[in-house]
Amino acid sequence: MFKAPRGAVDVLPDEQNYWRYVEEKAASLCERFGYRRTDTPIFEEAGLFVRSVGEATDVVEKEMYTFEDRSGESMTLRPEGTAPVCRAYLEHGMHVLPQPVRLYLSRAPMFRYDRPQAGRYRQFHQLSVEAIGDPDASVDAEIIQLGWSYAQDLGLRGLSLAVNSIGDPACRPAYLVILKDYYRAHLSHLCQDCRNRYERNPLRLLDCKQERCHPYIASAPRSSDHLCNACKEHWNQLLGYLEALGIPYGASHRLVRGLDYYTRTVFEILPPEEGGQSTILGGGRYDGLIQQLGGPPTPAVGFACGLERVILNLKRQEVPVPEISPRPVVIVHMGLPATHYAMGLAARLRKDGLTVILAPAQRSLRAQMRYASAVSARYALVIGENEVERRSASVRDMDAASQSEVPETDLA
Ligand code: HAM
Repeated sequence: MFKAPRGAVDVLPDEQNYWRYVEEKAASLCERFGYRRTDTPIFEEAGLFVRSVGEATDVVEKEMYTFEDRSGESMTLRPEGTAPVCRAYLEHGMHVLPQPVRLYLSRAPMFRYDRPQAGRYRQFHQLSVEAIGDPDASVDAEIIQLGWSYAQDLGLRGLSLAVNSIGDPACRPAYLVILKDYYRAHLSHLCQDCRNRYERNPLRLLDCKQERCHPYIASAPRSSDHLCNACKEHWNQLLGYLEALGIPYGASHRLVRGLDYYTRTVFEILPPEEGGQSTILGGGRYDGLIQQLGGPPTPAVGFACGLERVILNLKRQEVPVPEISPRPVVIVHMGLPATHYAMGLAARLRKDGLTVILAPAQRSLRAQMRYASAVSARYALVIGENEVERRSASVRDMDAASQSEVPETDLA
C-alpha cells in the first residue's frame, strides 16, 4: 500500500475548515494593509536559493529538494518564498511601481527535507508577506503589526514577540569579530554544530538549541550593543513605533534567524508552549537581497507564517473555527422516473444555493433514509411515483422527525 511521503500530509475534508479560516483571515488582513496576492512557481532554479538563503545555512546545506530536470537544469522545490518574490519583483520590473511594493503569498507550499515531528513537515505552507522598496523603520513596524494582528485576529492567545537587530554590512563584520573573540576561549565546551558555526556562520552560535551551549549564549556580546549609528537609529525608531502601536515585544539578543539574507530587524512570534519547532511566524529586513540577485540596491522587509503551526495552536487553544460544510438536503428517489425528477429538482435547488445530494439509487427507501441520517442531512426529500405525478416532494425534517408533502414550486 502506498502512503503519503514522510513529512507530507493529506488535508482531508474535516480539516478544511481550519485551512479556509487561516486563508480567509490572511487575505482579508493583508488586503486591508494594501498587500496584493501573488503566486510564484513551486520550483525555481536551485541557484536562486543558494545565492539568497546562503550556502552555510541548514536550509541550503541539508534541506533542499534539488533535482535535475530533463534538460539538465538544477531545480529546487522552493524552501521559502522571499527569494522567489524578489526574483519576480526584478523579472517584472516592479521597481517602476510606487514603492514599497506590498505583496503576499498565501497557503504557499514549501519544501524542506528535515526530520518530521509535530509542527515540522517536509511539505508545509506559508503565508509570506513582503514590502519591497522602502528602508524606513515604519515599514518594519507595519510588517510586525500585520503579523501580530494576524495572530490576534485568528484568536490565538498568550503569544510573544521577540525582536532584535543584527546590523548591516557596515557594522556586522566588526560585531562578528567581537563575537568570535568571545567564543574562542569556550570552543572546546561547545557542541560540534557550534564549532562548525564558529567558522562558517558565527551569528548562528547564538541560536544553538543544545543545553550545553546556553550559558555561553547568555553572556555573549549582543549585536544591538554594537550597531553603527544608522542601524542604531533604525532600531530605536522601530522600538518607538512598536511602543506607540502598543505591540508588546521582548528584545532578544539570541534571535538571529536561520537564513543569511537578513539585515537590521529580525523578529519572531512564539506560542506559549516554547519548543524548538514552535515559532509560528518569523521575518525581518533584507536590504541586500535584491542586489545580491542582480538588481539595484532595494531595501525590503517581510515575514512568513507557518500555517500548519497556526492550525496546531488553534487546536491546542481550542479556538472555535466556523464549519464550512452545511448540512445537506438528501433526495430519496424510488424508481427511474423519480430519479429523473430528483436530478432536475437537485439542479434547481443547488442553483438556489442549497447543498443537495442524491441518495444512492437502486436502494430501498429505508436504506436511502439511513444514508440521509448517516450524512447528517437536515432535510430528506422523498420522491416516489405519487410525488412525480403531483410535481411535489415529501419533505422530512430530520431533526423534528416530521414529514409533509410540499409542491415543487414551494421548495427552496
Ligand atoms: P523561516 O523562519 O524559515 O522564514 O520560516 C517561517 C515560518 O515557516 C516558521 O516560523 C515556521 O512557522 C514555518 N516553517 C518553517 N519550516 C517549517 C517546517 N519544516 N514545517 C512547518 N513549518 C515550517 C522564512 O521562510 C522567510 N522567507 C521569512 C521571511 C519573509 N523573511 C522575510 N520575508
